Amino acid sequence: MRKRIVAGNWKMNLNAQQAELLMQEIVKQHQPNDVEVILIPPYVYLEKAIDSLMQSTIKTGAQNVHAQVDGAYTGEISAKMLQSIGVEYSLVGHSERRIYQSESEQELEAKIRRLLEVNIKPIYCVGESLEERKSNQHFKTVEKQLSILEQLSSESLLSCVLAYEPVWAIGTGETATAEQAEEMHAFIRQKLELFHGQHIADNISILYGGSCKPNNAKELFSQANVDGGLIGGASLNAQDFLAIIDAHS
Ligand code: PGA
Repeated sequence: MRKRIVAGNWKMNLNAQQAELLMQEIVKQHQPNDVEVILIPPYVYLEKAIDSLMQSTIKTGAQNVHAQVDGAYTGEISAKMLQSIGVEYSLVGHSERRIYQSESEQELEAKIRRLLEVNIKPIYCVGESLEERKSNQHFKTVEKQLSILEQLSSESLLSCVLAYEPVWAIGTGETATAEQAEEMHAFIRQKLELFHGQHIADNISILYGGSCKPNNAKELFSQANVDGGLIGGASLNAQDFLAIIDAHS
């Protein structure tokens, strides 16, 4: 059975005091259930998050990782560093990084490999732009983005989480309909099945991201192939984030 997951991507938000307060509020009120909850704060708050979450079932994820093992890459953070402080997940290929940092698929594949080498689970983000959706290219775009997973062993693929995040729905208040999300999630699972068979594909969690809020989470999560959410804006408010977790319980 695949995991049901709700992950909160804080992006580049909050100062240290606000971050600590938000972690405390979440830990205090979170009732452990069978949903895997992941907090993905900025790098500078990761160790704090790991300490604060120690007594809870909530996991910690990074927003990014460098594609090289180590070396002269000023300002960068390696998978080994993340692993050494206890990080369990990392986003790879979030659309904001694909767009603003021009991350190539080759680079993203290297990042996934670096993470897997140290047993950190990659959360690989895919999704089309508005123009691609309007010109009916969305399946083609996502298929191309998924192709970097093709060469992974089945064991490695099983350690990955996928996140479908249509770029036009991120931070815009415009959510994909439950039908649009389910259609793409089923397509993604079909592609994963082509890589390593149905058993593997059936065991990989595929999250939806893009203006997922307490009022639409239940409907999205009730779709057969939607195994949870990657939450941006709504994860910065403890009550909203907890309500989204509850919508999945
Ligand atoms: P949003 O962001 O929930 O604010 O739309 C989602 C994401 O980018 O992960």
